[in-house]
Amino acid sequence: MMTERKTMISAFHIKILTLFPEMFPGMLGMSLSGKALEKGLWSLETVQLRDYAEDNHKTVDDTPYGGGAGMVMKPDVLDRALRAHQPLGRFIYMTPRGKPFTQARAYELAQEKQLTILCGRYEGVDQRLLDAYQAEEICIGDYVLSGGEPAAMILLDACIRLLPGVLGNAETHTEESFENGLLEYPHYTRPTVWSGPDGIERGVPEVLASGHHGKVAAWRKIESERITHERRPDLWEKYLNREKLQKREG
Ligand code: ADE
Repeated sequence: MMTERKTMISAFHIKILTLFPEMFPGMLGMSLSGKALEKGLWSLETVQLRDYAEDNHKTVDDTPYGGGAGMVMKPDVLDRALRAHQPLGRFIYMTPRGKPFTQARAYELAQEKQLTILCGRYEGVDQRLLDAYQAEEICIGDYVLSGGEPAAMILLDACIRLLPGVLGNAETHTEESFENGLLEYPHYTRPTVWSGPDGIERGVPEVLASGHHGKVAAWRKIESERITHERRPDLWEKYLNREKLQKREG
């Protein structure tokens, strides 16, 4: 029995190759991305890799050459699945060994008509398959998950919210973290004074209630810079270098 799921093809069509198609759409079927899926702003097709195994046991993996722990996903099985699902569009393999996923990459991928994402389990995928299909290897962070599926969902979540029509008109991406190389400033809402569980009364920074747009913008920039400096020395370094370059070109 083929256990594939397919919706109408949209302007952003996603094919997921996985041993756990039931994981999808998962969180992507809820909230912003779920509504966008219902509206047809993106579409999803899952492929059960096991359907492409040819032996009675439906074997998809084997022991690694050279020995060692874990199993490796077989190139012949993956190849049959990929041949049956052409065209692939951009072909992505989720792996901790990949290039880091960034907001810039999310913008780039959100421009594509079609992505095919291979989710690995076990120790990984035979390298020859990745070479033959020129897979783009992407990592969502410096930690190891038990499989590529949650990583694929995170990548897709970041892309889907950038698709035209997904976010309301009032919401824009311009002030979000990473848009200008900085982390976002802190937010406040009513009540003006609030007491937390520690009994301390905390107010809202006065400038935010001043109605002075210039001063608010200046405060937000300083806060963004302070937080980026404290939390992300890597981003801070890049930001300073960019500022220097801009002054020089000035
Ligand atoms: N698979 C397991 N861990 C991963 C990670 N950090 N990024 C992408 N894919 C993965």
